[in-house]
Amino acid sequence: MTDRYAVIGNPIAHSKSPQIHAAFAKQTNQDISYEAVLAPLDGFEATVRELIKQGYKGANVTVPFKFEAYDACHQHTERAFVAGAVNTLSFNGGHIAGDNTDGVGLVNDIKDNLKHALGDARILLLGAGGAAQGVLLPLLNALPASITIANRTLEKAQRIAKKSSSATIVSANTFEALQGQFDVIINATSAGLSDSALPISNSIFAKSCLAYDMMYGRETPFMAQAKTAGAQVADGLGMLVEQAAEAFYIWRNVRPQTAPVIKLLRSA
Ligand code: ATR
Repeated sequence: MTDRYAVIGNPIAHSKSPQIHAAFAKQTNQDISYEAVLAPLDGFEATVRELIKQGYKGANVTVPFKFEAYDACHQHTERAFVAGAVNTLSFNGGHIAGDNTDGVGLVNDIKDNLKHALGDARILLLGAGGAAQGVLLPLLNALPASITIANRTLEKAQRIAKKSSSATIVSANTFEALQGQFDVIINATSAGLSDSALPISNSIFAKSCLAYDMMYGRETPFMAQAKTAGAQVADGLGMLVEQAAEAFYIWRNVRPQTAPVIKLLRSA
């Protein structure tokens, strides 16, 4: 019997996840279905209950439900716990297990696809919202030299830096007060959505810096600035595919190849 999965969000119509998981399933000969499910803004839990009732095996969760998904779980992985958010649910009877594959997706994209080292790197994480918090532990696990979290609202950056319990290498700052250079700069702010530039200087991009925007679909002002500053620039499409691959692995215990799927989405 075909095992059923879904991605839950609002809005959800433009999600690429069904296409990604269909490609993984075909590639690995897994008999699954995967569809996009629109949950009402006040109806996330009811939607999850309905999927469980219908026998679904799991679901991905996207904006704006990742925090509610965390609360709905009976059990969390460490990376979900540190993120305080869940993007992958596994259903076993009425039991719900939660994981967060966003951070490992980012790390795998940077290391495996973009061939950029994170070990010993000076990392700058721009933003201190859910997206930034979601990737912090996997970035720390990649053993960088340092992680600086810079945010418009300094207190939020300080709060998540403190939560990471690696005070020796994680610090918080404002954009304006940033000093020195960074080998990897990750934009986890939502400034790109409103086409806003960030008040950062071109001088913070080290030689051979990787500038990574977690958004995809168009060039953000951050990406344009990074290009001008001579950095290698990447958008978040690879991360999207890699976080999906990790979810697929959690559910199916099979690792799909991501490169052909990234290529497929780029050409679409
Ligand atoms: P997400 O889940 O996408 O991280 P969020 O939790 O609302 O969304 O966080 C958005 C992040 O983008 C925050 O770090 C926010 O900065 P503040 O904490 O100061 O609000 C940042 N952000 C949004 N618009 C921005 C802008 N125009 N310039 C700089 N930072 C911006």
